[in-house]
Amino acid sequence: MRTSLSTLQKMLDNNEKIAVLTCYDATFARILENSGIDALLVGDSLGNVLQGESTTLSVTLDDMIYHTRCVARGTDKVFIITDMPFGSYQASPELAFKNACKIIAAGAHMVKIEGGHIMADTVQFLTRRGIPVCAHIGLTPQSIHQLGGYRLQGHSEKSARLLEDEAKILEKSGAGMLVIELIPAKLAEKITQTLSIPTIGIGAGNNCSGQVLVLHDMLGLSQGKKPRFIKDFMLEAKTIQAAVENYVIAVKTGQFPNIEHQF
Ligand code: KIV
Repeated sequence: MRTSLSTLQKMLDNNEKIAVLTCYDATFARILENSGIDALLVGDSLGNVLQGESTTLSVTLDDMIYHTRCVARGTDKVFIITDMPFGSYQASPELAFKNACKIIAAGAHMVKIEGGHIMADTVQFLTRRGIPVCAHIGLTPQSIHQLGGYRLQGHSEKSARLLEDEAKILEKSGAGMLVIELIPAKLAEKITQTLSIPTIGIGAGNNCSGQVLVLHDMLGLSQGKKPRFIKDFMLEAKTIQAAVENYVIAVKTGQFPNIEHQF
């Protein structure tokens, strides 16, 4: 049986951590599913790791639909979340609905959108019309030019309070899950305790309800300077399946992320 949003919610209620990885094609999707991953994120990080771009801003709706179809074909059991790309949802809830329908028709079970207060109406519009939404706050790569760089968010008291408020508003608007990226571990823990929906952290410490990493980062494929929150699981594994199994175990047992991966 396919994992659903209510399965993931039950995992949170039973204190079981949720292990998520990004995925962009059918072959990896099958390996990840067979390794015990709970959910796959067809992330717009494909702009970086597949297309070689320095940002996610040029990823198109057609790209996301294509990769969602590929991932969906490679799976029977996992829950699939797909990023709505830059420009496909920000202008209005109606635009977001029209484009989210295409992503869901391609095989996703939930769409992910970046942004806080400003996205509350859109989250409500989509969820009231039957489209599950994962919100995403903290470092939101589609706002990179506004944020001025890939850096830690929520480190001042004011910005921490803003993120706490945003998390609450997004949950109230109907978000079924929340990705929190690159914020202090203590703040992520506080947000997680306040909400009743799962929080999925990346660079947000190990007291979130689950964790996500970009597949290419956790397989040690990404070149250049590695952000602190990444762990290369291939270093201690002979096969990709073993590396992913170790990631799933490390997330579920709370061994990843550890103190050296957090802020
Ligand atoms: O696109 C992506 O891979 C993401 C994760 C980093 C959360 O949004």
